[in-house]
Amino acid sequence: MRPWSFPVALQTPTEAERPAPLFQQITQAIRGDIRRGRLRPGDALPGSRTLAQTLGVHRNTVLAAYRDLEAEGWIRSHQRTTRVAPDLPEAARAALPKARQDTGPAYALEPRAGASAAPGLRLDPPGRLDFGGGLPDLRLLPTDLLARAYRRALETPSLLGYGDPRGEPRLRAALARLLSGLRGLAVGADQVMIAGGSQGALDLVARTLLRPGDRVAVEDPGYPAAWATLRAAGADLVPLPVDGAGAQVDALAAALHQGPLRAVYLTPHHQFPTTVTMSAARRLRLLDLARQHRFAILEDDYDNEFHYEGRPVLPLAGDDPHGSVIYLGTLSKILAPGLRIGFVAGPRSLLDALAACRSAADGQGDHALQRAVADLLDAGLVQRHARKMRRVYLARREALAAALTRHLGGAVSFDPPAGGMSLWLRVDPAVDVEAWAERSLRAGVALYTGRRFDFRRRPLPNLRVGFSSLDERELDQAVRRLAGALVPGGRSPLS
Ligand SMILES: Cc1ncc(COP(=O)(O)O)c(C=O)c1O
Repeated sequence: MRPWSFPVALQTPTEAERPAPLFQQITQAIRGDIRRGRLRPGDALPGSRTLAQTLGVHRNTVLAAYRDLEAEGWIRSHQRTTRVAPDLPEAARAALPKARQDTGPAYALEPRAGASAAPGLRLDPPGRLDFGGGLPDLRLLPTDLLARAYRRALETPSLLGYGDPRGEPRLRAALARLLSGLRGLAVGADQVMIAGGSQGALDLVARTLLRPGDRVAVEDPGYPAAWATLRAAGADLVPLPVDGAGAQVDALAAALHQGPLRAVYLTPHHQFPTTVTMSAARRLRLLDLARQHRFAILEDDYDNEFHYEGRPVLPLAGDDPHGSVIYLGTLSKILAPGLRIGFVAGPRSLLDALAACRSAADGQGDHALQRAVADLLDAGLVQRHARKMRRVYLARREALAAALTRHLGGAVSFDPPAGGMSLWLRVDPAVDVEAWAERSLRAGVALYTGRRFDFRRRPLPNLRVGFSSLDERELDQAVRRLAGALVPGGRSPLS
């Protein structure tokens, strides 16, 4: 808690005004703070000498004020310490503020479409194992390195002022190098802009690019958080079915027959949530359609760092001579989602417009944090962490696959994903997936059912289980809980 500070400036007499004597002003101010609840029963007040120094008055003035307050029962002095009385006078207690009832706003509050559809956060009670949707294991983050770099950055005054809405220049340069080295994107720092996660990046793009009623195609099943952002910008979403080769581009072509599309939002590398990679033929056709029909491809390349089979497939943005693709990236998977560092790569004119949008919203992100991350990238430490986590996650993918086969037998089947942080399970049609997930939750394990990702919220015979945020032992335990919850009344091995 912050220490109490004296709430008002004392008034001294002038030609025109004769304010109350200083000791009375002090008495009134302290009494007022007790009534308002800024000072609570038992709170310590500064010593008379300290308060006198702070206020620039004689110590006797403060002593006189404290004497009055004590006589009225507001404060109690004991062994050189002065505190707000634990048993306040009746009148004071009646005046102590109660939490104001939340009766809602007095103004009209009609959230725009999508604004209320934000995905809920799950706060897990202790002991619950959460498969999650593919979160990094934050227990393994090199927080000491990050903390040291952040401290250094905080000691650099230029990073604490207002800065470029596009983001801290060194991080933009480091990300540009990373993108060209790992993802084959030949971009310079001036074609990279940092945002509040890739969600923040998508929000800027959507607000810049879209007009209410614009049609935007999305994958179905797909990523509801992106749908919410696009809808909040006024988009009319057009769902595209997904199969083993990614989003169906035929369906996109059919949608174009019905009217123009402004954009398509895709996760081509590891489709969210099914984890499949979009085929080369579909990529080419998609780029071709985008060029012909002049729609933007919003490519979310969210967990490309973790690819286990062969070389990662390069993004569409690296094969885009006509400039149709807006590339969205994130550090949420290699570092931590709470850092809120995502980025957009695109033409400078687009970034100018996004920067204007960011200025009008919250101005900029945390440049000190961005510099800290730039330092870690420049020293190769983020890359080293990513390599380590790739090995860890690969072992966990194997462990989860083995545990599922061992404990769940024929109830689920899956194709081990070439990359990413989750498995997409097909569940035996005889099993009611939603009921199973509910029983699992009661047995202490949380996971997402396919319904969450279906555009129309229809139940799907699928589960998405992340393997990255739980270690091998936890994964095995979580799968045993799932197995226990498979049939109603089944044993739930909460061990
Ligand atoms: C499809 C997809 N895109 C992007 C992200 C990352 O979002 P952000 O960068 O806003 O943390 C996630 C995280 O779960 C995701 O699943």
